[in-house]
Parts: sequence; structure tokens; C-alpha cells
Amino acid sequence: MGLVYPLPTLQEVKVAKEINLEDCLGKTVLVIGGGGREHAIVDALSRSPKVSKIYCAPGNAGIGEQAFNVPLKDTDVEGLKAFALENSVDLTVVGPEAALAAGIVDAFRAAGLKIFGHTKAATAIESSKEFAKELMFKYGIPTAEYRSFSDYEEALEYVSGRPFPAVLKYDGLAAGKGVVIASDLEEARKALADMLLDHSFGQGRVVVEDFLTGPEFSFLCFVDGERVYPMPLSQDHKRAFDGDKGPNTGGMGAYTGLPFITPEDKEFAFKEIMCKAASAMVAEGVPLSGVLYGGLMKTPSGIKVIEFNARFGDPETEVVLPLLESDIFDIFDAVASGVPADEPRWADGVTLGVVLASKGYPGKYEKGVVIEGLDGVQGRVYHMGTAFRDGTLVTAGGRVLMVVSGGSDLADARAKVYEEVRKIRCGNLFYRNDIAHCAFD
Ligand code: AMP
Ligand code: GLY
Repeated sequence: MGLVYPLPTLQEVKVAKEINLEDCLGKTVLVIGGGGREHAIVDALSRSPKVSKIYCAPGNAGIGEQAFNVPLKDTDVEGLKAFALENSVDLTVVGPEAALAAGIVDAFRAAGLKIFGHTKAATAIESSKEFAKELMFKYGIPTAEYRSFSDYEEALEYVSGRPFPAVLKYDGLAAGKGVVIASDLEEARKALADMLLDHSFGQGRVVVEDFLTGPEFSFLCFVDGERVYPMPLSQDHKRAFDGDKGPNTGGMGAYTGLPFITPEDKEFAFKEIMCKAASAMVAEGVPLSGVLYGGLMKTPSGIKVIEFNARFGDPETEVVLPLLESDIFDIFDAVASGVPADEPRWADGVTLGVVLASKGYPGKYEKGVVIEGLDGVQGRVYHMGTAFRDGTLVTAGGRVLMVVSGGSDLADARAKVYEEVRKIRCGNLFYRNDIAHCAFD
């Protein structure tokens, strides 16, 4: 079964859903979240013959075409638990880290509900930079040298003695804004004052680490204790504009089939980083049971960890999951039940996805602008921030849509995806024209 060439259209998936839904006694799944990542998860679940009903909380306009949207916030743990109990949900899958950090997995398990995601304690691998760095040093997982501080003067003294640029990371969830790359002492002083004197993000500590260089990539694995199932590698594009210019965003595009990673690199990253981290978490008494996301860098002195996340990446998930040939329900179910899963099968070929964002994003932007032309788009269209207004599809977020195409190689996938992107008509969207430029430069 080749899912990638060509990817079925959303319309085809919808028709399949209409045939399957409710007329078989399949499983009911609740997906938590409402962005492109959750749309890709819902899309993968909708390909499972074992799943007959999908809820998504809160979902979005596109997700609502493939699942039943539930108007509950992703951090409303009590509300979501009550919903899952009342609606006989067989399995819940958690997208965002905020829900994990709010303890949704602990609360669901205590209520006897099956859920795919890490406990609050295990989520520390993402939510606490200091926990993650200590873990890596204790278990010999390669990462940058660091020290952690709560005192402004001590932090400043340490930074003064290290080479610049220096990397300053607020130790806690900071919605992707807690990292400052300071090019000189003055910039470091300002950032440290912001984090440790003014407490702009809260009362957390600051991790100061050495600056590494090299291409970054994302390694997502399903993890259940010591069992680690790798997914295809992908690369995000964090800057807003072509040529990696402009402000940092949540991600403007992604692709699989990284030209700069050899099979030996992947083997090293799998064994020496992802598997070691999974074993380390077991040894620490906080086993993982969900997705471990390694934000890795191929430096001149080998592959090193920039950060770990305790969840699927966004927009990486949108390019990775379309390649999955196995039934994703089986993987989620096995991991959530703590039993071995069959090794997931992945299609050959590559995927490439382009994000269409509201003009002005990641700064201020307008919402409610009409979007047209989606019906003619081949491949997959994942909704990131959309809504229906009086039956019309409109923009409702910074990142709005992601179009993903498959191909035999990146040139093929890139040509296809931009052809599809140009079919979408909206007065207020922009996108990068150079996704996967690394492969063409
Ligand atoms: P993080 O939130 O830790 O992923 O950091 C956000 C971004 O900052 C990363 O994706 C990197 O581009 C950059 N960054 C973080 N740590 C380092 C480092 N030690 N050296 C170079 N760049 C880094
Ligand atoms: N793509 C970056 C993230 O999901 O954190």
C-alpha cells in the first residue's frame, strides 16, 4: 500500500470516513489539540479500519471534516476526562505539551482511561531544560556544555568566561520564546536580567550553554519504556522568510529525506541518543510512553542534542505521518497499553510540506480572511488555524494551512507541492518558496 504516491485527497478520505463510520463496531478515539499536528494525527487515524469514531478537542475547521470537534480546551483536564468517560472513548492521544504538563495522562490513567502520552513527571524532559541537561550528562548523551543558574550575578560571571555567541535558555515552557542567542556580553546581560531579575517568563532558572553549529533536524520516535520505534527524520524551517531570514516562527515548512544525514548518522542518533534517553528515563523512574522528539544538530564533532520534546513536532508530524503504512491505532494502543508493537512500516519516497501563514505572523495579523480553492488541491491539506464563519472557511490563526505532497525525491515533491499551494486563494497569506533548500543549495 503506497500512501504517498499519490496522497489521497481530503475528499477521498472524507468519502472513506462516510462509508466506515458508525456502521462497524470500531474504536472511539479522542485526539487532544487543534493544530496541523493534530490534523495529521486525525488523518492517520482515519485511515485505520479499526477506528470508527474520532473526536478532537478543540479541533479546527479542517479537522471537523474528518472528526467530531469537541469545544474543550486542551488543558481542561477535568472537562476532557468527563467527556472521555461519558462518550466511551477507548483511547485518547495527546498532541500539545501544555496538556501533558497539565497532568492529563496521570488524571486519565487514575480514572482507568487509556491514553497515549507521557506522565507529567516524564514530560520534564521537555518542560525542564535543567532536567534534560542533567539527564544527558548523567547518561552520556551528547549535548552542549552548560551550567544552570537562578542568580543573575553568577550567571553573568559564567557567561563572561565563555565564548560568544552564548545560548541562554529559560528553564520552563516558554512557548518557544525562552531561548536567546546572545552575540556579546551586553546582549547576554539584557537577556539574563529579563529572565532572572524581571522574571518575564516566571520564576524559573536559566540554562547557559555553548553555541553549536551545523544543520538541525528532528528525530521523532514512539517510545514505551525501553521500546523505541523510529520515524523518518525530518527538518523544520523556523524562520519566517526565504533564505532563513526574518523572525523565528512555530515552523514554516518541513520535509523528510534529509540529504545531509547518512544511514550511519541515523543509526548513531537512534542508539546513542534516542534509545539511551529512553533507557535513562526508565532508570530515573520516569519512563516515557508517547513520542520522544529529539531536536538534533549534526555538528563538526558529531550529532548532538539541542533539546528534547515530549510530543509530536509541528510541522514535522504533517510530513512524517503521511509516510506511515502501518495502522497508527495499533501503535498508539500498544504504547498506551505498555505492550510491544509491531515495528512500524514506512513508505519509500519523501514528503515536503509548505505552511501558509497570515501576513504579519509571527507578529500581529488579521483573522477572518476568506480562503478559497482548497477543493482542487491534490495531496494533503492540514489545517493549522482555520474556522468556518457562516459556512465560509476563513483564517483563524498565525499559521493557517500546510500543504504536503509526496514524491520519489525532493525535487519531485517540491515541484508538486508548490503547484498545489498556488491553487489556494486568500488575500492574506504568505509562504516560503524555498522549503528543503538544503537539498538544492
Ligand atoms: P530550543 O528551544 O532549545 O530548541 O532552542 C531553539 C532554537 O535555538 C534551536 O532550534 C536552535 O536553532 C537554537 N539553539 C538552541 N540551543 C542551541 C545551541 N546550543 N547552539 C546553537 N543553537 C542553539
Ligand atoms: N517544530 C518544532 C516543534 O514542534 O517544537
